[in-house]
Amino acid sequence: MKERIIMIGANGQIGSELAAALRQKFGSENVITSDIRTPQTLKDDEIFEIINVLDKQALKALLEKHKPTQIYLLAAMLSATGEQYPQKAWDLNMNGLLNVLDLAIELGIKKIFWPSSIAVFGPHSPKQQTDQYCIMDPNSIYGISKLAGERLCEYYHAKYGLDIRSIRYPGIISWKTAPGGGTTDYAVHIFFEALKHGKYSSFLSAETELPMMYMPDAVRGTIELMEAPAEKLTIRSSYNLAGISFTPAQIAEEIKKILPNFELSYVENDPRQAIADSWPASIDDSYARNDWGWKPSFDLEAMTKDMIENLKTNV
Ligand code: SER
Repeated sequence: MKERIIMIGANGQIGSELAAALRQKFGSENVITSDIRTPQTLKDDEIFEIINVLDKQALKALLEKHKPTQIYLLAAMLSATGEQYPQKAWDLNMNGLLNVLDLAIELGIKKIFWPSSIAVFGPHSPKQQTDQYCIMDPNSIYGISKLAGERLCEYYHAKYGLDIRSIRYPGIISWKTAPGGGTTDYAVHIFFEALKHGKYSSFLSAETELPMMYMPDAVRGTIELMEAPAEKLTIRSSYNLAGISFTPAQIAEEIKKILPNFELSYVENDPRQAIADSWPASIDDSYARNDWGWKPSFDLEAMTKDMIENLKTNV
């Protein structure tokens, strides 16, 4: 079957790079991106539509116009911004998902990608090698909305046969697109500031270890999951996916190997510290490895080198 994809929330950190990879794979004419604002750059062959995922009527009209076979729903409010606007975060993250799921059933669109996050875990989840199935007591509104979203995805798969696939993304690091409003954003900012000013002030403490992943791995993993045969998938909530785990102190050491004068300092009492402290330090992703052959390819050293080389030459 010829695939036709609509991506909602395509201007964000993951969307921008995932859309480029999907356009390459399926052809620009088969990938429609959409968001609440026009993106900063749009090439001639790229199809873009303005949409607010909370406007169900407009969303329905958009889906009827383009008749996609797959929907990627990436519109969401992340953890740090979510704490400033909890009701808005809940509304966007939950009702955006429900609108897409209900319209997918109504219009017969079977395949959906929806991202979850390491934020579904909480203070009582194991910290190291956090298992797919364990105590999950998220205490950020973002994490609560993602965990509820996961339950909805599994429910809609079981009850209505929707082919929903999902990944619990760790913090994503990329030189092309900036993240917005997350707790893991420091791991991207640190590179930009290292090159620009030779120093960075981290809002997370030296020993705060979090699961992260380099963007090329995240994009490849997402497409591999979407391409995997349905019968191989045993998880219909959302897959744990691991890349690299590190602390601010460890990434600073790695940056110093290339930029020896780099200096890292720390800001205390940032509200993002409490969010980070409630999340895992590392993730067990055996289900993704066994079900669809997931394997990350960048370690901390390879990612740091690649980030700095690209930022030096391309930004
Ligand atoms: N990167 C996200 C955040 O920090 C986690 O999913 O909010």
